[in-house]
Amino acid sequence: MADPTAPAQTVHHLFSYGTLQLPEVQLSQFGRLLQGTADALPGHRMTTIQITDPAVIEASGTDRHPLVVVSTDPDDAVEGQVFTISDDELAMADAYEVDDYARGEVTLRSGTRAWVYLERRNAEQTVGVREWLRSLEVFAGPLADFDPAAAPADPVELFLGWLREAVAVGVPDPHAMTLSTVGEDGGPDARVLILKNVDGDGWQFAVHAGSPKGRQLADRPRAALTFYWPLLGRQVRVRGAVEPAPAEQSAADLLARSSSARAEVLLGRQSEHLADTEERDRALRTALARIESEPALVSPEWRLCTLVPTAVEFWQADKGRLHDRLRYERPDRHSAWERHALWP
Ligand SMILES: Cc1cc2nc3c(=O)[nH]c(=O)nc-3n(C[C@H](O)[C@H](O)[C@H](O)COP(=O)(O)O)c2cc1C
Repeated sequence: MADPTAPAQTVHHLFSYGTLQLPEVQLSQFGRLLQGTADALPGHRMTTIQITDPAVIEASGTDRHPLVVVSTDPDDAVEGQVFTISDDELAMADAYEVDDYARGEVTLRSGTRAWVYLERRNAEQTVGVREWLRSLEVFAGPLADFDPAAAPADPVELFLGWLREAVAVGVPDPHAMTLSTVGEDGGPDARVLILKNVDGDGWQFAVHAGSPKGRQLADRPRAALTFYWPLLGRQVRVRGAVEPAPAEQSAADLLARSSSARAEVLLGRQSEHLADTEERDRALRTALARIESEPALVSPEWRLCTLVPTAVEFWQADKGRLHDRLRYERPDRHSAWERHALWP
């Protein structure tokens, strides 16, 4: 076992109000008995949660684990012990604590700054937003593999392969993407949209021509799309020019949508200030009635758009932070794609 005072390792203070104070838990988790000093966490009180991790239940001998929460009574304090441990031992403690807990730094009654495990949902109240955010996991996976050297010559083929995998593993809304445009003031604007199609021409989505994004694209027909599939740790970024599809294609896309979606398009006031919800509901009822009486009615404002890419980047997260990146680049739609690996 590493000596916690050895110079190569940072010395940490860990405040325990629970099972890490038990000698048998210390021996099984750290392979040694820790030297503890009595201390307390002011402004908090103790409660318990039921845990389900069999390994932790076996090591601790109980499925009820104590938990501290912020108390409404400032005189409350949670008593416990503070231990001095090494980097390696802190990692061991992280592995011991179940996913319901987040580690955050607190100031103890003695003035010592120490790590403490708090219920993840309530950690923000005790440790502040910054620490709470730092405690949240990213790239929890299970992550996918990606070998840029084996990637196909066509980015559409790779994109569809990744999209199929995202669907297969159950990524929610796998066809939702962030569409970034250039605003009328020259600044960026972005929102989430649903992908309509991908083919040799590019990535397709639809907008109302009168909406902010519709006006922005008419003004500056360039955009970026970003997909993120967290379960696989994958991101795809697409950039290029945006071209409106022929009117009959836009009409066909709109007619294939539900009556309520078509009625919403007929309203045509997307992103305007809404002063009166009754006015909105009345307008929606009128639009629905029009669609019922004129089933072939289409709003000429509905635009199917194709983002014709000049760059498509595939990004695969790696637990060791050596993320794999591959960017397909071409100067225009008539040129062949070049592939470049990118630094993480
Ligand atoms: C998952 C998701 C999917 C969405 N899909 C669409 C869509 O397909 N079309 C659309 O106009 N807005 C969609 N929205 C709403 C847009 O993000 C946005 O609020 C709206 O289009 C107005 O954008 P704008 O003011 O920039 O024009 C979606 C939002 C989410 C969260």
